[in-house]
Amino acid sequence: MKAQIYTQYGPPSVIHFAEITKPSIGKSDILIQVIASTVNRTDSGFRSAEYFVSRFFSGLFRPNQPVLGCEFAGIVSEIGSEVSKFKAGDRVFGFDDEGFGGHAEFKVIHENKGVTLIPEGLDFETAAALSEGSHYALGNIRAANVHADHHVLVIGGTGAIGSAAIQLIKAIGSKVTAVCPGDHMNTVRNLGADRVVNFQTEDFTQTEERYEFIFDAVGKSRFSICKPLLKEHGVYISTELGPGLENIFLALKHKFTSGKKLLFPIPSFSQEDINFLKNQYEQGHFKPLIDRVYEFDQIVEAYTYVETGQKIGNVILRVGNPN
Ligand SMILES: NC(=O)c1ccc[n+]([C@@H]2O[C@H](COP(=O)([O-])OP(=O)(O)OC[C@H]3O[C@@H](n4cnc5c(N)ncnc54)[C@H](OP(=O)(O)O)[C@@H]3O)[C@@H](O)[C@H]2O)c1
Repeated sequence: MKAQIYTQYGPPSVIHFAEITKPSIGKSDILIQVIASTVNRTDSGFRSAEYFVSRFFSGLFRPNQPVLGCEFAGIVSEIGSEVSKFKAGDRVFGFDDEGFGGHAEFKVIHENKGVTLIPEGLDFETAAALSEGSHYALGNIRAANVHADHHVLVIGGTGAIGSAAIQLIKAIGSKVTAVCPGDHMNTVRNLGADRVVNFQTEDFTQTEERYEFIFDAVGKSRFSICKPLLKEHGVYISTELGPGLENIFLALKHKFTSGKKLLFPIPSFSQEDINFLKNQYEQGHFKPLIDRVYEFDQIVEAYTYVETGQKIGNVILRVGNPN
């Protein structure tokens, strides 16, 4: 089968086409013909190994698993002998940041490990973008214990994580102020944000407003800057480690203190999460924001764009043809 692979860590150009063996399935696995995937910050992080720690999961000296693509949407083409939830021909989507594999014509996954049916009427490309940014958002929203009467500040409302966070927080019933670039304020309002701040012309810290939760979904702020904006027991979470890894150290310190806190939850993902996100889509609470769509042979351009830090939501990769 055709795949976009990497055999060394590095810039987008390390990714190239190769003919590789189609994966074989175990008793509880399904084989999926991939129709669409995404190129996202998780794929970029593993490919570049920008944070050395990622190599403990992907291979110390070189990648163990040559195909990236943690998000996928496609058609079940084969099932293992003990599979009970799917049949050949089912339209499915999911998330797999252990096996990856979405940047290839076929991908294998255990039937209970982050895969579910595509909601009725939803296209493959949108389905492919339902889970990466949103599962990070979900984990952090849960860690911050967001309630309907809370006011949340989301920094980076146009990112894959931030745009999902706004929608998932609004679904809880909370009030959201979102910080984003000026050109996309309407997009962010349409996601449900009650107030929108243009970070290019306004300083979001210059406000009398106080928040139960500040979620920096693009990792551009610091706890010390945001702390005065938190309510007494408010929580701050950033998607980045911060200068000198300060977010790790502060999270450890704040485990033993009361009052305003920085948390650094370890991302996790389960079958329940994929079902929850599907359900949020079906209830009209959440729809992934889509930016550009790239063809399979344009993957290097897709990565290069993602790494400008300027994408608006999600970048889709067209991998296969459903017909
Ligand atoms: N290492 C990993 O495995 C991993 C995985 C997922 C996410 N992450 C991290 O999580 C963060 C979010 O990822 P993402 O994919 O959701 O982000 P993204 O989609 O790349 O976010 C880009 C958007 O954020 C906006 N932005 C930039 N600076 C901003 C600021 N100071 N205030 C408000 N908006 C700002 C950009 O606007 P402009 O175009 O105007 O700059 C752009 O619209 C990133 O820091 C990423 O590295 C890491």
